[in-house]
Amino acid sequence: MKKINILHKSFTKPISCLTAYSPSIANILDGKIDLILVGDSLGSTLYGMKNTQEVTIEMMKNHGAAVNKVVNKSLKVLDMPYNTYENKVDALKNAKILLNCCQPDLLKLEIDKKKLFILKYLVSKKINIISHIGVTPQSFKNFNKIKILGKTIREKNYLLNLAKESEKLGAKAILLECVTTDTAKLITDSISIPTIGIGASKFCDGQVLVFDDLINLTTNNKKPKFVKNYLNFNKMASDAVKKYNKEVKLKKFPSTKFSYS
Ligand code: KIV
Repeated sequence: MKKINILHKSFTKPISCLTAYSPSIANILDGKIDLILVGDSLGSTLYGMKNTQEVTIEMMKNHGAAVNKVVNKSLKVLDMPYNTYENKVDALKNAKILLNCCQPDLLKLEIDKKKLFILKYLVSKKINIISHIGVTPQSFKNFNKIKILGKTIREKNYLLNLAKESEKLGAKAILLECVTTDTAKLITDSISIPTIGIGASKFCDGQVLVFDDLINLTTNNKKPKFVKNYLNFNKMASDAVKKYNKEVKLKKFPSTKFSYS
């Protein structure tokens, strides 16, 4: 497996990860960050779905295969979509479909206590798995109901045990979504596989963001606290569109420079 050794605690610098659903974006990211995730967040981000439960294996196959064509340097991670890993037979069948079609280095599964046996089974079939715990969006029809986890001792212990079990069963890393800072630190300090956080503080071994959030290319007015816009693409693109529209109306575009003689 290519550079999977970067998924190791002794890797000196924190692991960086961003999502990409298309070759043009994946091409920008490749080699600049450690991991490229074809996340099922594409359901809401790209297709305007209310949640990720409607994302199909066909969608993941298409986007995963397109991204795979241009990624040569970064590690590739692909989400298994909702309802494709409910039992061992389906999980293996669907994992193989995605592996054959998109050649990711790792698959990511949203894991709770009831899904640990799937994780164990796929690992036994030599598949590299990232265990996504904490807030697991596939469990929500309504994203407004999502709340930060780890505020109570009970939640903290549950997540800690889940992380420890995931490690014991052979997960290569833990993705920790929307948990309190002390929970993230506790888990990160308690296991020897890396934690990659989203809304999970600086105490994780790595960080992930949705690329569209990074550049502010989103229709979502409610920005989660953990999102930092590194660029205001929304504004830049809308300025460009206005300028184009004006030049078309004024017959300034296309000038001779952009016309064939
Ligand atoms: O689907 C996704 O993009 C994710 C996020 C946590 C990054 O899983």
